[in-house]
Amino acid sequence: MTMRNKYRKPTTFHCNAGSRCSPSAVVWSLVGFLLFLHLYSLVSHNGGKGGDVQLHTSHHTLFRELEEVEEETIQIPPPKGKRSPRAAKRRPKRSTTLIDEFLDENSQLRHVFFPDMKTAIDPMNDSGNDSLNYFPGRIWFDTEGNPIQAHGGGILYDESSRTYYWYGEYKDGPTYHAHKKGAARVDIIGVGCYSSKDLWAWKNEGIVLEAEEANETCDLHKSNVLERPKVIYNEKTGKYVMWMHIDDGNYTKAAVGIAISDYPTGPFSYLHSKRPHGFDSRDMTIFKDDDGVAYIIYSSEDNSELHIGPLTEDYLDVTHVVRRILIGQHREAPALFKYQGTYYMITSGCTGWAPNEALAHAAESIMGPWETMGNPCIGGNKMFRQTTFFAQGTYVFPLSGLPGSFIFIADRWNPADLRDSRYVWLPLIVGGPADRPLDYDFGFPVWSRVSIYWHRKWRLPSGWRGLK
Ligand code: GAL
Repeated sequence: MTMRNKYRKPTTFHCNAGSRCSPSAVVWSLVGFLLFLHLYSLVSHNGGKGGDVQLHTSHHTLFRELEEVEEETIQIPPPKGKRSPRAAKRRPKRSTTLIDEFLDENSQLRHVFFPDMKTAIDPMNDSGNDSLNYFPGRIWFDTEGNPIQAHGGGILYDESSRTYYWYGEYKDGPTYHAHKKGAARVDIIGVGCYSSKDLWAWKNEGIVLEAEEANETCDLHKSNVLERPKVIYNEKTGKYVMWMHIDDGNYTKAAVGIAISDYPTGPFSYLHSKRPHGFDSRDMTIFKDDDGVAYIIYSSEDNSELHIGPLTEDYLDVTHVVRRILIGQHREAPALFKYQGTYYMITSGCTGWAPNEALAHAAESIMGPWETMGNPCIGGNKMFRQTTFFAQGTYVFPLSGLPGSFIFIADRWNPADLRDSRYVWLPLIVGGPADRPLDYDFGFPVWSRVSIYWHRKWRLPSGWRGLK
C-alpha cells in the first residue's frame, strides 16, 4: 500500500476569494503542471546548459516516488498445534511477533523475509519490466547467474575506469557453530569483488583477498573472522587500500586488518592487523572526506562506544589522533556519509546477527561532538522500522548529481545459512527537519532529517547518471 509521506509538508491549493475550486479543476491543473514539469525537464536535459535548474527539477520530480511511504501488512500465522490446558496455565501464551517469525527458520513467513530462487533478481535474464529494479531481500544474481557474495560490504566508485566496485565478505561456505555458545559462522573464504556500470548488474571479479588454508598463525586463516571490508583509493600513492575487521573465532582479537593493491580488482596484499590506537576494535568502516583525509570509525570498549580518527596520508595506518564518540550508546555497524558540510552516520544496536533498530547521528565536525537524531526508517510497518527492515546497515553510497540522495546498503543476515544472507538496498534522503531538537542548539535543529524509505521494489531515477 502506498500513501503520502507524512513527513512532507501538505500541499494546499489556494482559490480566489469567493470562487470555488471543483475537484476536477484541481486534478486537471495538477496534470497540466506535471506535464509542464516533465516537458521542462526534457528540454533542460537536451539543452545541456543551466545545470542548476536541471538538477533541481530532476531531483524534485525523479525522487518523489522514492519518498512515498510504502506500508506492509503481514499477518502473523496462528501458532502451530494446540497447547494442553495445563501447559497454558504454567506458561501463559506470549503472542508471537514478526521478529520471532523472522528468527524462526521454520516460520510459515520464511518466504516473506527470504524469498526463494524463483524470485531472484537476474540481470542477464530480465524478461519483464524489472530491469534496474532493486527488490530488497530477494536473491540477487551476478552476471553469471550466481548469488552475489559481498556481505558487510561497501562500494567504491573508481574514477579512472568509471566503474563501481562492490567489496564484501564472500560467505559461500557452510554455516556452523565453532562451539555451543559461539555465534554462527562461515570460515573465511575471502573478500569478494563485483564491478558494475549501473549499480545493478554486477560482474564477479573474483576473490580479491583470499583466506589462508594452512598457516594457522595467519590473520587470514580460514578459522578466523574477516568482516566488513571497505576499499578507498589513495590519489597520492595510486593505491587501493582495504581496511577490514580481523578477529579470531571468539571475537577476542578485536583488530583491524589492512591490505593494498594497484588495481581495484586486486589481488590485494595483506599487510598486517593491529588494534587501532591500542583499543579493541570490532565493527568498523572507513570514510574518505572531500579533502582526501580518510578516517576510521570502529566500535570499541566492548562495543559500548565508537572511536573515530584520521588515517595517515598513505591510508595505511592510524595517526595518534582519536576521539571517543557515542559513549555508552552501544552502537555498531557504522556507515558514515556527508551532505552540505554536515557528517551523518547510521549505526545499529549490538545484537549479533539478529536485526535491531538503526539510529541516525549527525555532527558538524567529523571528530564530533556527534548527536543522535533517531530512527531513520520510514514505511513498512512498526516492526520493519524497529528492525531496520530486518537488516543491518553496512554502507551509505552518495548518488553523485542528486544532492541529498544516497543508497542505504544493509545486510539481512540469515544466521541459519549465512551464505544465503540477503541485501537490502533502499533510498536514503537527507532533508526536512530532524525529529528531535538537539541538546545544545536551544531547540533549533541545525541538521536535516535522514530518512530511509522502505520499498518492495524501486529503481534509481533514470536520469541520475547524466547528472554527474
Ligand atoms: C554483528 C556484526 C556482524 C557480525 C555479527 C556476528 O553484530 O555487526 O558484522 O560480527 O555480529 O555475530
